[in-house]
Amino acid sequence: MIDTHSHINMIEGLSLDEVIKNAQEYGVEKIILPSAYPKDIDEVMEITSKYDNVYGLLGVHPSEVKDWTDDLIDKIKEYSKSPKIAGIGEIGLDYYWDKSFNDLQKEVFIKQIKLANELDLPISIHDREAHKDTFEILKEHNKDSKIIMHCFSGSVEFARECVKEGWYLALGGVVTFKNAIKMKEVAQDIPLNKLLLETDAPYLTPVPYRGKENQPAYTKFVAEEIAKLRGITFEEVDKITTENALKVFSKISE
Ligand code: NI
Repeated sequence: MIDTHSHINMIEGLSLDEVIKNAQEYGVEKIILPSAYPKDIDEVMEITSKYDNVYGLLGVHPSEVKDWTDDLIDKIKEYSKSPKIAGIGEIGLDYYWDKSFNDLQKEVFIKQIKLANELDLPISIHDREAHKDTFEILKEHNKDSKIIMHCFSGSVEFARECVKEGWYLALGGVVTFKNAIKMKEVAQDIPLNKLLLETDAPYLTPVPYRGKENQPAYTKFVAEEIAKLRGITFEEVDKITTENALKVFSKISE
């Protein structure tokens, strides 16, 4: 398995060595660590250079764009030459926490899409309660970067729209929640060749550890739930989602 979105730098209850060891014990071979805050960009470089099986994404999360400065563009360009930097992320729009700077969110989102296009890197998208604007901005501004809708939270209809664009959908712990009817429908409906696994650790811990701190090892519970929902084996989910991740984040297969 590959955990395609995991903030392992934010896990408090375990050391990084323990996080990596647990992941390997549960069958998670590779982990992708996104940046959220500008300060994460240096942490991502440090952690990915230390651990062979951890790859990074560089970018600024929509809730943190007040700290965006244009010199980050040069920094990301330089750092992304590293073979361990697999994409741009997480970037996008978040209208859930704070709607007071939507225009700034859009502006910085577009700048980072253009950067990903220039660098020919895939993009991990954060879209929270902003489906329409996220979709329209990507349609208008993205040229050929591959798109991953991280922690997908839309309807089956929206999932189909995204799949039609050729985008990938990453599902995490929410799919294991008993009341997450909509997400279970999405997990059953989307084509397997567009499906990715993630944890979004330390958040959104799957059942049976819901309420505790999340970690990449728990990707296993997400895969098991999807297998159950689709009536296929865990091994099939493992195999296809790993292939998808290697394809979309091509630098992690080198
Ligand atoms: Ni995230």
